[in-house]
Amino acid sequence: MKSSKEKNTSSYPLFSSVLLAAVLLIHCNCKIPFLSKEKEENPFILLGLFALNQPQVYQWNLPPGFPVPRVPEDNPMSQEKVDLGRFLFYEERLSGNNSKSCGSCHFQRLAFSDGKILSTGISGEKTTRNSQPLFNVAYNARQTWNNILLISLEQQMHVPLFGENPVELGLSIREEEIRERLRGVKNYSELFQKAFPNEAEPISVTNIIKSIASFQRSMISGNSAFDKATYQGQASRLTPSARRGFNFFSSEIAECFHCHDGINFNDSTFHSNTSAKIEPLYHNNALYNVAGTGNPSSNLGLIEVTGNPAHRGGFKTPSLRNIALTFPYMHDGSISCDDNLNPNLPAGQANGATINGCATQALGKVIDHYSNGGFNSTCGAFTSGDTRNASFPCSPHITEYGGNSALAPSAQSTVDTGLIRRFPIQPQEKTDLINFLLSLTDEEFIVDPRFSRP
Ligand code: HEC
Ligand code: HEC
Repeated sequence: MKSSKEKNTSSYPLFSSVLLAAVLLIHCNCKIPFLSKEKEENPFILLGLFALNQPQVYQWNLPPGFPVPRVPEDNPMSQEKVDLGRFLFYEERLSGNNSKSCGSCHFQRLAFSDGKILSTGISGEKTTRNSQPLFNVAYNARQTWNNILLISLEQQMHVPLFGENPVELGLSIREEEIRERLRGVKNYSELFQKAFPNEAEPISVTNIIKSIASFQRSMISGNSAFDKATYQGQASRLTPSARRGFNFFSSEIAECFHCHDGINFNDSTFHSNTSAKIEPLYHNNALYNVAGTGNPSSNLGLIEVTGNPAHRGGFKTPSLRNIALTFPYMHDGSISCDDNLNPNLPAGQANGATINGCATQALGKVIDHYSNGGFNSTCGAFTSGDTRNASFPCSPHITEYGGNSALAPSAQSTVDTGLIRRFPIQPQEKTDLINFLLSLTDEEFIVDPRFSRP
């Protein structure tokens, strides 16, 4: 759906830059050449003029080492929008039948993923791909697994709110009805008024989208043991094993870092000082090689959007932050731990399964996938359904083609065989690599009250 409702630009950028200039004047003794002598001597007048009734300059409170994200000019950050967006993220009234919210498929305790292979929308329809975690999405150069057209969070949000294939929140009702639903509950009138102070009718779809996007931009995660050791001077937070694992991850043997790079280990970090490289964001990591060509027809990757045969099987490199929490892995949730080790499933709960136990086994399978040089399917088309065993009849997931030319990807394959190819790995190296990946969990983020259901 096109975002025709998005054209409503506001004058905040002007206000915020003037305000920022004013704040800078107070906080430093620097001379700002374009201001006249009197104004330079009394910056408080400036502040008084423009601060009146305007949102404060937003305080990012970024973890050490993190750059300021890029923010669209027509939706600058404000604490008021973030506060409102938190309510709306968890608001079931924003679904067709008042039953689900963003928070129904994005759980804080799982770094805002949902622990399922595929998610279920309000009408029981399954999503095509696995729910992605939400943290540091402010830095994403593109949103979702394979839609290169979705640049901003504002654009992406039309998919869950209004998308019909599949229906997620199914909000196909008129704007007036949405207003009716929100007015009179949870102080929404006041919250919208504060977030959009100069508007006659602040409760609107555009403003709902702007607020939820601002809330999502505020969801920054960067306080894992790895971060504490790397950026916060607490070297002892990283075990020697995890440290060795990071070195292996960053080696030309494992090649992981070529794709999972940057501050988010995802190849896609867009911030105020950089522009991101777009093309290399999408890779075919040899998850399938159906009939020597690539992915099963149910999920072809970037080619579905671009039509370019070279993009078959291409998916956005996922972040590895909080990876211990976000199984099942891959765009179709096809790599996970055994059910009885999975604490998100009844079988695992009956068995006393733990997050770390499941992640350890599942990440081991991911590492096997890569060290085997990828997956070769010899038993026909795959369909992503809900039952793991039925969906993946050729289990175990890993078969080998590394070194075996009869099984090697064909000329039509788009696997990057320079990076995805069999490599030697010792049991200790595998343990170390898993320990490094487990060190990327930010325990503070998943209980941070600023992001919880209000
Ligand atoms: C029915 C489950 C469901 C609901 C409800 C839902 N999402 Fe999602 N979300 C998903 C799935 C599945 C994906 C992966 C999309 C894809 O690539 O096909 C996703 C992807 C995303 C992404 C992309 C993240 C990235 O790293 O690229 C963002 C952002 C997002 N959702 C935000 C939201 C917001 C905001 C809402 C509420 C307005 C919402 N979602 C509601 C299931 C859901
Ligand atoms: C050629 C680029 C590339 C290389 C090299 C690479 N990856 Fe990946 N990785 C990807 C892509 C793309 C995906 C998502 C694939 C999909 O869903 O179809 C992915 C998915 C993953 C996932 C699952 C993440 C999730 O949230 O579902 C993990 C874990 C992972 N990779 C770890 C590694 C490790 C460890 C290495 C090194 C041994 C590595 N990757 C090497 C591109 C790469």
